[in-house]
Amino acid sequence: MSLIKTEDLCLGYESHVIVSDLNCKVDPGDYLCIVGENGSGKSTLMKTLLGLQRPIGGKIIMGDGLKMSQIGYLPQQTDVQRDFPASVKEIVMSGFQGKCGLRPFYTADERQTAEACMKRMSIDDLEDRCYRDLSGGQQQRVLLARALCATEMILLLDEPVTGLDPKVTADMYELISRLNKEGTAIIMISHDIGAAVKYASHILHIGDTIFFGTTREYLESEAGKLFRASDAAASSVHGDRSSDDMDRDGQKEGDVEC
Ligand SMILES: Nc1ncnc2c1ncn2[C@@H]1O[C@H](COP(=O)(O)OP(=O)(O)O)[C@@H](O)[C@H]1O
Ligand SMILES: [Mg+2]
Repeated sequence: MSLIKTEDLCLGYESHVIVSDLNCKVDPGDYLCIVGENGSGKSTLMKTLLGLQRPIGGKIIMGDGLKMSQIGYLPQQTDVQRDFPASVKEIVMSGFQGKCGLRPFYTADERQTAEACMKRMSIDDLEDRCYRDLSGGQQQRVLLARALCATEMILLLDEPVTGLDPKVTADMYELISRLNKEGTAIIMISHDIGAAVKYASHILHIGDTIFFGTTREYLESEAGKLFRASDAAASSVHGDRSSDDMDRDGQKEGDVEC
């Protein structure tokens, strides 16, 4: 059974529709990348999946006993959030707030889980440091550890590499990929379509038209072909890495006829 499935989902604010008739799903172990222009509705979709925003129409179906409050979430970062004056440990522990309800303390189990999540993200030695004094990459690891406190089943990551330098970005992608290989389903919003086709099993492209399918299907689709053309043009101008040498699970993208 899918962890999350949308049926003819219609998103927006008040009665202003931003995305309509969205049908997609995430199964256990999937890695879904959501791509699309700025303002196309990617963050709104995440907030709607988390229950922070009411859908205008359609349905969101949660499977495998998953509750919205158990979804791990790494929000899109603003400068104000980057300056948050709390310790690393406090930020990580706040990942349990969805489970605490009115209980004003954390349980021993929750403290142990937080320790384990910090170790997994290699930030256990930073636990007493102030969050705002950390580097961008360290801050994102803290937020990943926080998201993992909510669940190991599924993480929603809204532009987790924005503002990071290329080396730290690559490390972050590897870390997320490792979590996925260890069994956590990932939904990630990204502007980096090259990385999306490298790591994701599925792509949701939100724009004038909506595409949802496997990464292979995406690369063969009109939306995917358009991307490849614009990505190749950008690479030849900027000397960036091309998507041509990217693969997922050892599957060479060159196998795909485009
Ligand atoms: N709280 C809000 N109230 C009204 N409109 C909003 C709100 N948040 C975002 N929007 C609008 O919804 C559209 C989609 O925004 P968003 O989901 O943040 O896009 P993306 O994440 O794809 O860049 C944009 O036009 C944005 O201005
Ligand atoms: Mg956004």
